[in-house]
Amino acid sequence: MKAPKADGFVSPVAGEPLRDAGAHWVSEPSGVKFPLIGGVPWLTPDPQRALADWQARADGLIAHFADRIAEMKGGIAEAKGGGGSALTRERLGKHRSLLIRHHEFLKDLLAPLKLKGKLNAPQATAFGYRLPANQGLLGYFQNLIRDWALSTGENEAQLEVLKKAVEPGAVLGRLAVLGSGGGRLAYDLHRSGLATETIALDINPVLVLTAQRILSGRAVSLVEFPVAPRSLAAVAETRECKAPQPVGDGFHQVFADCYHLPFADGSLDSVLTPWLIDILPRPLENLVGEINRVLKPGGAWLNTGSLNFQLRDLTKCYSVEETRELIDAGGFRVETLAQDDIPYLRSDLSGHGRIETVTTFRARKTADAAARARPDTRPEWLRDTMRPVPATQILQASRVVFDVQAYVLGLVDGRRSLDAIALLVSQRYGMPEDNAREAVVNFFARQDEDAIFQR
Ligand SMILES: C[S@@+](CC[C@H](N)C(=O)[O-])C[C@H]1O[C@@H](n2cnc3c(N)ncnc32)[C@H](O)[C@@H]1O
Repeated sequence: MKAPKADGFVSPVAGEPLRDAGAHWVSEPSGVKFPLIGGVPWLTPDPQRALADWQARADGLIAHFADRIAEMKGGIAEAKGGGGSALTRERLGKHRSLLIRHHEFLKDLLAPLKLKGKLNAPQATAFGYRLPANQGLLGYFQNLIRDWALSTGENEAQLEVLKKAVEPGAVLGRLAVLGSGGGRLAYDLHRSGLATETIALDINPVLVLTAQRILSGRAVSLVEFPVAPRSLAAVAETRECKAPQPVGDGFHQVFADCYHLPFADGSLDSVLTPWLIDILPRPLENLVGEINRVLKPGGAWLNTGSLNFQLRDLTKCYSVEETRELIDAGGFRVETLAQDDIPYLRSDLSGHGRIETVTTFRARKTADAAARARPDTRPEWLRDTMRPVPATQILQASRVVFDVQAYVLGLVDGRRSLDAIALLVSQRYGMPEDNAREAVVNFFARQDEDAIFQR
């Protein structure tokens, strides 16, 4: 896989041309530096801030696993000391040794982020930048294993439903795959010869850097921790991830944010959004305008994946009919739309596995959408750090929430029970004791879950 060339991209904020300056690309004339991380251009707006965000999260993740590995050592010693059976010791031992391997893998993989190693896990969570807030480093780790190690037929089924949406005889030309994740669908599509150039882009360094190794022809050993292990032996397992064939010329990866695409207006023949549009934090219309901007007149937008919008604003949690209407209104004509049931994230190690209805469409760009300006939706006071921070309702509300949480966490002294904490909370906030107990139990349960899942 050859490195991408800077002249195929533009700065994701101002649309300025980029020049290759060796260790980074630089936008001209403004001089913003876009670093190359593990050989992959980092083309997000405010690249230093975005990088600092991921560095902080990576620091937190690495520290979290170090704590967990130490904790498990204690658990194993306890089991040996009579607190557990031989099977429990075996399970913990296997889990821990593979966790150590996973930890080592992540440290090595994320080294190009130049981890500062100064923050402990809670500090990293509290002070790290958030971009984008709902995406954790390991959020889609299983996708990498599904993409490159398992033979469940999922990759083939996915490619097949997508190919049905490609116009017969058409080529995809210069194609960008937004939210490419582990990269398999982008790879399969590129290998199928439909695209002359494929740019796979994503914001998650774990996914992009691992895919980069695999797509460069390396075999990468990843540890799978199944959601619901079928047996003791299935608690964790290593998986050899490898591309079946070299990806060939014209395939590139970049770090980029789908709301700020690093492409000039009208410079792409096609865009693919696989399993992306419903997991994003902003209403779909934000993405429609940006995809419209980068496509040539007559260019194709292909989409495949679930349609399960989970936004707080229910008016934006669109059905398939509303999705189609919105895209048609955004300078496109939806030419095909199909729904298929396909297997999703099934693993022989896990008792969990899904069948998902995927919505696959092809929309043709028929007009320039009204809003072609590059969206920098951040308020003025966030862009200009000299301005006063306004006391918005959201910030005030967060303050109250953090005050309550800080008070509750401050009550943890290693001696008080949940009941004792709930009693103090009920007195302080004038709540009935039962309600306070329920709230306190939920709060600590959530902390516990967050520690497990949101890394
Ligand atoms: C549900 S996963 C799908 C991954 C892959 N397309 C697949 O089908 O396996 C969503 C992907 O979108 C990426 N993503 C989330 N927000 C993004 C953003 N703002 N810009 C680019 N990628 C994003 C995530 O990192 C993740 O890889």
